[in-house]
Amino acid sequence: MSTTSHQIAIELADRRYDILIGGGLLGSTASFDAVPRSRTALIVSNTTVAPLYAQQLATTLGKIHGEVLQLVLPDGEAHKNWETLNLIFDRLLAQACDRKTVLYALGGGVIGDMTGFAAACYMRGVPYVQVPTTLLAQVDSSVGGKTAINHPAGKNMIGAFYQPRLVVADLDTLASLPERELAAGLAEVIKYGPIADDAFLDWIEEHLDALLRRDRPALAHAVRRSCEIKAWVVGQDERESGLRAILNFGHTFGHAIEAALGYGQWLHGEAVGCGMVMAADLSHRLGMIDRAYMERIANLVERAGLPTKAPALGASTYIELMRVDKKADAGKLQFVLIEAPGRAGVHGADERLLADVIDAHCA
Ligand code: NAD
Ligand code: GLY
Repeated sequence: MSTTSHQIAIELADRRYDILIGGGLLGSTASFDAVPRSRTALIVSNTTVAPLYAQQLATTLGKIHGEVLQLVLPDGEAHKNWETLNLIFDRLLAQACDRKTVLYALGGGVIGDMTGFAAACYMRGVPYVQVPTTLLAQVDSSVGGKTAINHPAGKNMIGAFYQPRLVVADLDTLASLPERELAAGLAEVIKYGPIADDAFLDWIEEHLDALLRRDRPALAHAVRRSCEIKAWVVGQDERESGLRAILNFGHTFGHAIEAALGYGQWLHGEAVGCGMVMAADLSHRLGMIDRAYMERIANLVERAGLPTKAPALGASTYIELMRVDKKADAGKLQFVLIEAPGRAGVHGADERLLADVIDAHCA
């Protein structure tokens, strides 16, 4: 039986769509009422998630589409590239899929980002639905229409803004998530407190143990509040001309860690968690937040089981890698910093100060 406990609307200038959050959603055709009916649908998943959930989803979708195809991609951030993306196009073309074909991204952020990008490109755009199965994807990557693949020189550098028709976040899927992946998702949950909602930070501090135990009401609230904040931000700035950048708190440092070590060594959420500790320190050194607030962020990251020490690559390596960041302006580094509890903005930083922060946080 399905229980949609929450429905959140993403309101954009020229369209809207819903995020459904609840249990039993994959098994219910009602979850997919908003999807255009089509002759063909393609479920894109990976070797880990497909054996767990693809059949259940295919059975449900079989009742609303003529034919439901499945494509199982290799698993992992290291496969978020042109070669894997092309496998989606190969399959769509091999099956003569038309422009009404609906793609379903069943998996975490890697599958979601790649499937969304494929949907943006195939025949110049086909509809797609996000069916996120990691905490990270349910609270962040499935919402807001950022799609991409990685380039060896930079994370998510090739992509498009392309919104899904619907997001179906079935909380039941979180039961099979490995602990390390749950922690990685918590990094993106923690992020929303300092950037947008100080009361949510209090709530996370109180409920972190419950979240780590996968307490259902706690997970439901975390996913709901995270999606509400993300919907509020994306609704005001779909294409990141300003406000949306705050969602990248910790990401400038984090993306540098991911790129330096090779994609997949550190999980994205782990890199973001450590990056938030570094960005909070930079905010503190610039006089924006006091030491106690900086430490609250660092303590939460640590309590979530995420790394708080970055790999010792040397400050100059980090600084060079960070120049490739999408926020960099004519080579000048920019960071999302906490201006006050619950409020963030984009700021430049002196490279000497930056080197001090990096040195202070390297293992
Ligand atoms: P992921 O997609 O690699 O999934 C993590 C691991 O969990 C994978 O091995 C996956 O197969 C497995 N898995 C997924 N669901 C499972 C389940 N229910 N049970 C058991 N195993 C499961 O990683 P992620 O953390 O979900 O996403 C990270 C990616 O998301 C990065 O590439 C990042 O750049 C991207 N991202 C995008 C946005 C955006 O706005 N588009 C935002 C944040 C992150
Ligand atoms: N995860 C950052 C964004 O969606 O803008």
